[in-house]
Amino acid sequence: MKTISTIQEFRKWRKGITGSIGFVPTMGALHAGHLSLVEESIATCQNTIVSIYLNPAQFAPGEDLNRYPKTIDADIKKLSSFQVDCVFLPNDSEMYPKEFSTQIQENFLSRVLEGNSRPGFFTGVTTIVAKLFNIIEPTHVFFGEKDAQQLRIVEKIISDLNYPIEVISCSIIREKNGLAMSSRNEYLNNEERIIAAIIQQALQEGKNLIISGERNSKIIRDKIIHTISSEKLLRIDYVSVADSKTLIEISDKIEGDILVSVAVYLGEIRLIDNFSYSVSSRR
Ligand code: PAF
Repeated sequence: MKTISTIQEFRKWRKGITGSIGFVPTMGALHAGHLSLVEESIATCQNTIVSIYLNPAQFAPGEDLNRYPKTIDADIKKLSSFQVDCVFLPNDSEMYPKEFSTQIQENFLSRVLEGNSRPGFFTGVTTIVAKLFNIIEPTHVFFGEKDAQQLRIVEKIISDLNYPIEVISCSIIREKNGLAMSSRNEYLNNEERIIAAIIQQALQEGKNLIISGERNSKIIRDKIIHTISSEKLLRIDYVSVADSKTLIEISDKIEGDILVSVAVYLGEIRLIDNFSYSVSSRR
């Protein structure tokens, strides 16, 4: 497994690579969720490249950039037990030289949910993702359903900006108690992990309502809100029942493909989770 930290060296190495190239972009602090993307890339593509770059542009002032877990040696060790061909590890001056002054901004899907609560977040994500696509030149990219809105926005910029890249979405990987895996789970102590698992239970209860035939979005939303609110240490940012493709909130009857997503604070820690459901094909 090659580790490369400059764009120039990467491009030189990339010239010698033939066949399909799977790319897994990460910010490090790798967990089983990331590794499932790596496995999927290895199973799908002839080459797999992973990037580790803690992108400052997607953190607002006051967010957890400085606190974000940095576990580079452990990350490389984890990746070296897979058939990863290259890890790209650029530094800030490589990605954002002093004179850097360009942004890639998606203007529809980015306005709601995470984008509403974290202004500038998705512009930070789309700018770095576009840069990484231009450097890595992958044929396939692997993103987790855990960050469902990010996944849809990446699909949108790939389509809008004509990147010849196929997006492969991968299922959410959960801890034993149901909590969706996230690098931010590192911030939680044991007691908080138990509390945080209520988020997934609430989503499951919402899903069970749909499975049993409930179609009123307000009743589904209220059920989820009620369960999360039963734990006083959890503070809801949003509970959304939206069209899966447009992310437009559904105010009455759910139909077609929907995305049910939540963002919840446990103290300072922001946790997100979701499920997708196809109303027409299942009851
Ligand atoms: O999902 C993430 O870890 C980040 O948003 C990404 C896609 C690596 C861009 O920094």
